[in-house]
Amino acid sequence: MPRQHSALVEGRAEPVPGSVLFWLQCPELAEALRPGQFAMVRVRPEGDPYLRYALPLHRSSSTAVGLYVTSGEPAYRWLGALDIGERVDLVGPCGRAVELPHGGANVGLLCQGTAIAPLLGLLEAGSGAAQLVTSVPTPRQAIPSSLLPTRVAHSSFVGRRQDPAFWSTAAEVVRWAEAVYTVGSTAFYRQVRATVERERIVTREGFAQAWVWRDMACGTGACEGCLTPTRHGPRRACTDGPFFDLLDLTFN
Ligand code: FES
Repeated sequence: MPRQHSALVEGRAEPVPGSVLFWLQCPELAEALRPGQFAMVRVRPEGDPYLRYALPLHRSSSTAVGLYVTSGEPAYRWLGALDIGERVDLVGPCGRAVELPHGGANVGLLCQGTAIAPLLGLLEAGSGAAQLVTSVPTPRQAIPSSLLPTRVAHSSFVGRRQDPAFWSTAAEVVRWAEAVYTVGSTAFYRQVRATVERERIVTREGFAQAWVWRDMACGTGACEGCLTPTRHGPRRACTDGPFFDLLDLTFN
């Protein structure tokens, strides 16, 4: 059940230019948080009437959560100015937690662009091997491998000219992995789905899951502002997702 928390900023870093990674001291939230979940974050001073902003979280220690924000997020402008010792007001954890097939499962992660934040929680889940394949516009936007757990193999492809190499590596990962998680655009998801359908003769339900982001007004299933079309009818991204079975999603 999501609860309101006041988290203390105990660390911050800039892994790539135009991004900020916070470590927020908040033992109760860190204890409750599971991979795939997010928080509704107040991104303006207390008393501001505007709604909260939904942002993915990951556990960074037993008492702290990580919050990674890039300049593409409207929330970056305010959050990027926060410093160590300040507090962040958030409500969470929200959303459906993602379960790996088993604790030692080999996991493939496919990411388009710099919006890697939803995958960070999954990189820290389980004890199996993980392969992260990213496609970024410029070399400076590739997340440093030094920030990733040592069991993660990271391949980064830069620019559209490397798209064929990216998709070739993605196909290998899809064949190798026991579960695949992905974040990117609708066009990207179409191509990941085509790759899964081509490379896997048999896929179990939920083998490939895609992060679906909608504007979230409440984050708790009350407003229906985040309805997502699926083969089973519309589903709420904030409570049934944000990770959905990629093969269930319907794209217009
Ligand atoms: S954001 Fe309100 S129902 Fe999902």
